[in-house]
Amino acid sequence: MKLAVDEQDMLEGKGGLAQQKAMELLVEYAEGLGAERFVDTNNVAVLTGLFPYPELIKKLVPTLDADEIASRFFLNSDELVVVDKVKAFTTSHIYRDQEYPEVQQGGEFLCEVTKKMERYCRRIGITNLATCSPYQSGNVPVMGEHCAWTESSAIPFCNSVLGGRTNIEGLHSAFASAVTGKTPLWGMHLDENRLGKVTVDVEIDMTGIEEWNLMGYYVGGQIGLDIPIYTNINRTPDLTRIMALCAAGAASGSTVMFHLVGHTPEAPTIEMASGNRKDLRVLKYGKKDRRETYEQLNHSVRDDVDVVVLGCPHHTIERMGAIARMLEGKSLHRDVDLYVTTCRSVKAIADRDGLTDVITKAGGLVLEDTCGVFFDLDTSKVLASDSAKMVHYIPMTTGVQNTRFGTMEECIQAAITGKWKGELR
Ligand code: F3S
Repeated sequence: MKLAVDEQDMLEGKGGLAQQKAMELLVEYAEGLGAERFVDTNNVAVLTGLFPYPELIKKLVPTLDADEIASRFFLNSDELVVVDKVKAFTTSHIYRDQEYPEVQQGGEFLCEVTKKMERYCRRIGITNLATCSPYQSGNVPVMGEHCAWTESSAIPFCNSVLGGRTNIEGLHSAFASAVTGKTPLWGMHLDENRLGKVTVDVEIDMTGIEEWNLMGYYVGGQIGLDIPIYTNINRTPDLTRIMALCAAGAASGSTVMFHLVGHTPEAPTIEMASGNRKDLRVLKYGKKDRRETYEQLNHSVRDDVDVVVLGCPHHTIERMGAIARMLEGKSLHRDVDLYVTTCRSVKAIADRDGLTDVITKAGGLVLEDTCGVFFDLDTSKVLASDSAKMVHYIPMTTGVQNTRFGTMEECIQAAITGKWKGELR
């Protein structure tokens, strides 16, 4: 690898132990990827609060000291490494909702650990957005900006919608980028890798949010790592729809970027989105594919529902308002739990505007900073969600096998009646 002078200095320890460890880690990572050099980044999104294995933390860091946790888990170092300040503007991914430990896996213990990590992040200069959708809380990359982001649903949003440039970073690489302000120049950072190779001929009227979930889930599963170019999209997507597309495609496949011809910034035409490629593969997305995808996401044979989870990715303020309007003056079925997850910034607005109150009065719970896939659920329950990504991960992370996917309206109706009446229209 060719290192710039400042990178060599960090590697030699001239910037202190933390930068040295982080640079060692990045060099190893970059060499493994075949990157020839680094690029500067001043936009990083890290995973500093996602600890699905409480036993591992207890075993490796019994003191629960935040510097020690960071050394081991983020910098892969047995030696204690104290980070003074991060170099890049950095925001954090989800933590735990401190108010409801009993709802989340790891309970009080993981709430305590994440509280410590939040304090740690604040101390070293990381902004605690605590969300999987940082772009709705103040981390908004601009066209061409080199970023180092974690979180599968946020990455296609950064690349495709905003025109920022990021690969799927992991816990270690993103943290090392935060400490050094560097990321390997490869993958989505390079023009040639951002071009699509597959066109998706969309034959469906893309009106409802569920359509964007279904299409993303279908295409992600079909094309894996390739970049799809969606053509014939007959509706301009809004924020919620495009977030659904990002999350669904990243769940069933590994969609890091897509082009919506006529809508996303690097795709004014198919020619520009593909770099004039002549051998484009063509995929059709029609009624049969849509129906099969819907059936794939509806695993339950029972018609009752016990748990409804909304807010994946973290709900926008517009969706919080829509939920509140649907629940105004209503009461949930006494045997159904409704959880709505969002980020702290949106929750603060929802609180002030009285939306949280309406949802809570109906019997629902609005949680901030957390994610439904880490809820502590009785595995015999039936769960419904309006998110393909949530339904995809729930069986693996919670053990709940009976899942329903539908519109937000159908999910809320299920929360009120205890029965699933959803169907594909
Ligand atoms: Fe966010 Fe969790 Fe969904 S991290 S995208 S709410 S699976």
